[in-house]
Amino acid sequence: MICMMGLSGIPWANILWQGNEAEWASCSIGVFICLQCSGVHRTPTIGKVKSVRLDNWEHDLIEFMKAHGNLRAKEKYEAFVPPFYYKPRVRDCMILKEEWIKAKYERREFEFKRDYPTGDKEGYLWKRGRDNRQFLKRRFVYSESERLLKYYTNNPTVPKGTIPIRSLNAMFQGDKIGHAHGLEITYVQDRQTRNLFVYHEDGKEIVAWFNLLRAARFNYLRGAFPGTPEAELIPKITRNYSKAGYMEKTGPTHKEPFKKRWFNLDAEQRKLLYYKKPLDAFEQGGVFIGSKEQGYAVSEGLPRGIRKSKWDTGFVIKTPWREFVFTCENTNDQKEWLEILREIISRPMTEEDCKEEALFQRRQSQ
Ligand SMILES: *[C@@H]1O[C@H](CO)[C@@H](O)[C@H](O)[C@H]1NC(C)=O
Repeated sequence: MICMMGLSGIPWANILWQGNEAEWASCSIGVFICLQCSGVHRTPTIGKVKSVRLDNWEHDLIEFMKAHGNLRAKEKYEAFVPPFYYKPRVRDCMILKEEWIKAKYERREFEFKRDYPTGDKEGYLWKRGRDNRQFLKRRFVYSESERLLKYYTNNPTVPKGTIPIRSLNAMFQGDKIGHAHGLEITYVQDRQTRNLFVYHEDGKEIVAWFNLLRAARFNYLRGAFPGTPEAELIPKITRNYSKAGYMEKTGPTHKEPFKKRWFNLDAEQRKLLYYKKPLDAFEQGGVFIGSKEQGYAVSEGLPRGIRKSKWDTGFVIKTPWREFVFTCENTNDQKEWLEILREIISRPMTEEDCKEEALFQRRQSQ
């Protein structure tokens, strides 16, 4: 994996894994790993784990590590990872990492070429009720021929919800949902973004759903954008928020009292949406983040003379239509929001973005 930590003064380890540093090693597979991953590796089915720094390394074991190593392991165990399959990164949640390690080393799913199970799937997921907020077991069905994900409540033949793969997005949001396997599914319904929150007790099952939805999205994208290179489609399969969290906002005249809201920033779609509560089904409003060429800008700090809220750091987003004033809990948070917003504004808008901006603006003014 790509999670590496400080390691110096251990020449043989540095020689083996130049440029990347890991504190732990699986001496069964012959790879260097981080502390977090070492916990998953340390099982009878995957192998033995040693600390590079603290454990004693016999000559034979060092030779074994030299003969294997991360690059060779990658060639072997990741030889046939399907293009849609999500490979976790350093900042991803534990369940994605755990299931990736198990799929790779325990079940050896990617070592040989085979047909990866995609297509129809049926099973139950615990789904948070839109109004009563309780998690209830619901039957979910994905139909490849219809490109629809459906879920059912009491009536087994008429779906309660129908989610088009075309506008579907999925991401793990364990902290927000309150379950380590919590998945957030979003889609567009009546031009609003609808959020669904689900989980499955079994980590393998929720990650399987996630990758199945990714496979469905990948197939859809290939059909919708023929001739587009695979590498350009992959980042569009699913998206994660670049940042999410509480801020306060005031109204259009900047005299309205500040209200605390939950914000999700989707950099790819150039949208900052806000909610009364983090797990609301629909947003209360939002800001489309265009580009500097189109007159968008973001500035650090609050306008002079503004009636302060309890948070006194913030920033202003300027759009061609109005200025939005936000306050943040602390300067760290403010910095993070600013950094991502500036990145989006400096990115030119595509034709698609311009269409989205027009639609978004029309809906905001209704
Ligand atoms: C998305 O972000 C959340 C919260 O930061 C994280 O837990 C999750 O693993 C990320 N990745 C995916 C693919 O959902």
